[in-house]
Amino acid sequence: MNLLVTGGCGFIGSNFIRFVHNARPQWKITNLDALTYSGNPENLADLDSQPWYTFTHGSINDRTLLDKLMPQADAVVHFAAESHVDRSILDSGPFIQTNIVGTQCLLDALRANDINKRFVHVSTDEVYGELPIDKPDVKFTEQTPIAPNSPYSASKAGSDLLVAAYHHTFSLDTVITRCSNNFGPYQFPEKVIPLFVTNLIEGKKVPLYGDGQNIRDWIHVDDHCEAVLAVLEKGKPGQAYNIGGNNEQSNLQLTRAILETLGKGKDMIQHVEDRLGHDRRYAIDCSKMKQELNWQPTRSAWPQALEKTVQWYTENETWWRNVKSGQYRQYYQQQYGNRTTN
Ligand code: NAD
Ligand code: DAU
Repeated sequence: MNLLVTGGCGFIGSNFIRFVHNARPQWKITNLDALTYSGNPENLADLDSQPWYTFTHGSINDRTLLDKLMPQADAVVHFAAESHVDRSILDSGPFIQTNIVGTQCLLDALRANDINKRFVHVSTDEVYGELPIDKPDVKFTEQTPIAPNSPYSASKAGSDLLVAAYHHTFSLDTVITRCSNNFGPYQFPEKVIPLFVTNLIEGKKVPLYGDGQNIRDWIHVDDHCEAVLAVLEKGKPGQAYNIGGNNEQSNLQLTRAILETLGKGKDMIQHVEDRLGHDRRYAIDCSKMKQELNWQPTRSAWPQALEKTVQWYTENETWWRNVKSGQYRQYYQQQYGNRTTN
């Protein structure tokens, strides 16, 4: 198998490449990444000289490059995206360009090359909008209507609809995954868990949005990677699969758990203005993954999984300090050139 992974220098993509290599050591993997602010080759620095791994610096919006890469690939797993909700509220432009136009570019390259190549589109539970907090039994299923609320989730929903349309119209072998909030190593410290953990290690307070009662369904990134691999190998063409951790936590519960793990007090919480349009609750029903693909989360249970992740950030201070200070970015811009967004 020659697998083309897009966005492999980001948080989930880099964990996925390691996960797949451990699970399928005979596979060859090409990582296409534009190295935007969140793409960090350092996440995979130890793989540089591995014969099974190739890094290509470039964009999913570059059709000429895609036409060169596509014939060498047997399948594509598409992670590349603008991924942060707060940034999409500040400026939705890059989200439209990467998440919608970039996905269209990939689909067209696939269509021109070989429609029988499997294309896994990694999407998000946020395309379903939000759930109420007073009805804990209601969860997102694959039948929940698409109703995104943020510019980020609207751009992901747009790409999901394009993927479904290319399957319907051109018979492309596509599958879509919709996962909840990931946590684990190498997450860019703008997302809540690495932001809070690294702030606390630096002696800074943690900015909790609004009343802190918003709920997310937290999944360990390795559970997500395992599920994406299962969908790549066994998912049915044209289908969407929900992936979740069965692990709902309010932001206040999450914050208290991080404070406790690091031995810090509640005085380190700084209540700040809410995110605009802040979705109240996400919760995933992933019974389709269990019934059809025999997958369920096994690494996401708290408090152990959270404690392990907190420990990773305490043990990898150089990594996040360099990310926070922009040092890696400077280094890789010199090495690869500054052709990136943000
Ligand atoms: P991330 O921001 O950490 O990584 C995104 C990667 O994509 C970076 O390496 C970046 O350089 C690359 N990229 C951006 N634009 C590109 C382009 N034009 N061409 C090539 N590469 C480009 O994001 P993440 O958290 O790892 O998320 C990966 C995917 O998973 C995204 O599609 C996201 O929507 C989805 N997702 C994320 C979560 C989560 O909790 N983080 C949950 C569900 C789904
Ligand atoms: O649900 C899947 C989605 O999860 C992915 O599609 C996105 O790519 C990913 O970024 C994530 O989106 P969220 O907006 O849920 O993640 P974030 O880490 O930004 O925020 C998690 C919760 O924490 C959310 O309710 C907002 C809150 N928060 C976040 C930050 C950054 C705070 O209270 N303070 C903060 O400083």
